[in-house]
Amino acid sequence: MELETTVGSIKLRNPLILSSGILGTSYSTLQRIYEAGMGAVVTKSIGPRARKGNPNPSIFALQEIKSVINSVGLANPGYKVFREDIEKLIENKIPTIASVFGENETEFVEVLEGLKDLHILAFELNLSCPNIEKGGTQIGTNPETVFNIVKKIRSITSSPIWVKLTPNVNNIIDIAEAAVKGGCDALVAINTLKAMVIDIDAQIPILGYKRGGLSGAAIKPIGIRYVYDLFENFGEKIPIVGVGGISRGEDIIEYLLAGANAVQIGTALGVAYPENMIKFFQMRIKKYMKEHTIEKISELVGGAHK
Ligand SMILES: Cc1cc2nc3c(=O)[nH]c(=O)nc-3n(C[C@H](O)[C@H](O)[C@H](O)COP(=O)(O)O)c2cc1C
Repeated sequence: MELETTVGSIKLRNPLILSSGILGTSYSTLQRIYEAGMGAVVTKSIGPRARKGNPNPSIFALQEIKSVINSVGLANPGYKVFREDIEKLIENKIPTIASVFGENETEFVEVLEGLKDLHILAFELNLSCPNIEKGGTQIGTNPETVFNIVKKIRSITSSPIWVKLTPNVNNIIDIAEAAVKGGCDALVAINTLKAMVIDIDAQIPILGYKRGGLSGAAIKPIGIRYVYDLFENFGEKIPIVGVGGISRGEDIIEYLLAGANAVQIGTALGVAYPENMIKFFQMRIKKYMKEHTIEKISELVGGAHK
């Protein structure tokens, strides 16, 4: 029995990937998480220049639903500074996916041009950045914008391009189709859902930025639905990476059955000792495979589509 999986041309030692933004801000944390047993790591999203985060508080735990609401935004040091960390990860043979973002096509191009010479495993395009030119709606909500950005990036790099989809859209298939037509190599679903929390005593929004994004266990059924829909629409044509609300080995199996070739895990790993959790995830998957006489992860992918 083996946990190896593939996402297009990329081979991973197991289907567990650290998702962008959680622990993924420096070389040392990414290295630690990989050594704890993940198949690969995704960096925090990197933009063209340093960006300060939103005002505090920017993270609030919703313990009753094992979830988190955050308005961390796209705080990052910019690609010129972060490049050093990525180089170190590559040097140390840590399978690294660089998440990149921009407010428009020009910014995406600038970041890609600045990083394209690195032997990165893949670039993940985070399309959840607000498009200021178009009234602040997220880049990833407009199929034409998505097509143009992916096509342009495709012409710049021969490295695999993963497109991370926002769930905050009416029809995710239209957006995914635009990304596939643009030439991406995998779809990643989903990013956080628009959300908000209010302090009823103070009678004000809890987050400094007022609005935020929901992640953690509460969003798992939404992620599963999107992955299922994407697999139903595209089948084997494009690999899918499932993200959203994974907190147990069972959740990973569910995503694989929905159609994911691999999964990303974020909120659940933001604990003091993620090492133990990663071991439990692997043990649970192996136990399930044994019970169901499954030899390979690929036998599970899309298994719920009968
Ligand atoms: C604090 C925090 C920061 C995040 N930063 C990013 C980011 O920089 N880029 C990105 O694509 N997603 C970001 N995300 C979204 C996660 O990568 C993931 O898509 C989402 O949290 C759902 O997965 P989860 O429920 O396992 O956390 C962030 C999430 C959280 C909670």
